[in-house]
Amino acid sequence: MRLDGSTGLTGIIGQPVAHTLSPVLQNTAFDFLGLNWVYLAFEVSPEHLSQAVLGLSACGCRGLNVTMPHKREVLPLLDELSDTARLVGAANTIEFRNGRMVGHNTDGPGFMKSLEADAGFRPEGKSALVLGAGGAARSLVAALAGGGARSIKILNRDASKAEILVGLMAARFQHCSFAVERQFELDLSEFDLVVNATSVGMENNPGLPVPVSTLRPGQIVYDIVYWPLQTELLRAAKARGATIVNGLQMLLHQGAESFSIWTGKAAPIKEMAAALLERAEKGLI
Ligand code: ATR
Repeated sequence: MRLDGSTGLTGIIGQPVAHTLSPVLQNTAFDFLGLNWVYLAFEVSPEHLSQAVLGLSACGCRGLNVTMPHKREVLPLLDELSDTARLVGAANTIEFRNGRMVGHNTDGPGFMKSLEADAGFRPEGKSALVLGAGGAARSLVAALAGGGARSIKILNRDASKAEILVGLMAARFQHCSFAVERQFELDLSEFDLVVNATSVGMENNPGLPVPVSTLRPGQIVYDIVYWPLQTELLRAAKARGATIVNGLQMLLHQGAESFSIWTGKAAPIKEMAAALLERAEKGLI
């Protein structure tokens, strides 16, 4: 990478951002395609969010990712929202288009791409159990329903959040049946897909989000947690013969979608995946 007077600036704003893997992803893609662009991580506190976004826009920034804790709070600063960003009430990507800031949410599309690429799974006519009802769950449920899922159950520690999510999605997607699941001891074998969208399984929050003895071969078990690479849930699911997908794949594909929004080019997925895995295996997350 050679920086000069015409290098295009992109980056991510969040707090904390020191351990983000997004710069590895995006700079690998820019290098591989010979684009004179760079991607940096900017630590931005909530009270400086508006200054940061407007300042970066004024400096000719070409594209931004937005991460915790700004994904929702950034919306009122933007000129336009994609349908998905509006539906899930959060943006993880800002496109700077003709002086306007357009908010997108690539988490759901990234999840769908990875489901297909890594597990050969398309949601049309399928049933899913989503564990969690926070921001990530909202994106995934919208993506699955938008992709034609037949039924989606949502199980969350705080059931009232699951009810809100079901209400929101049922109003938007009539073809899909949504329900709140209240039993943690449930029969998982009835679902084509089980997704963990809680933070249970992360290094600082170890454990299983649900008892897993009823998982079976032929099911897909997806964990959005990406570190450790194999969570307790994925280890148990694999032992029971299910196909497993780790959250690193969603990170990869949501980044690839953002890359395409900013550059108008197809992302070099293979190269980005290799760089991500190399970094993850070094344990530098
Ligand atoms: P994100 O944007 O990553 O989805 P979030 O909106 O804070 O983050 O949501 C975190 C999710 O993980 C929630 O569904 C949360 O459950 P509650 O709504 O009941 O808080 C879930 N979660 C976090 N820690 C958990 C734990 N120890 N056990 C069960 N669920 C947990």
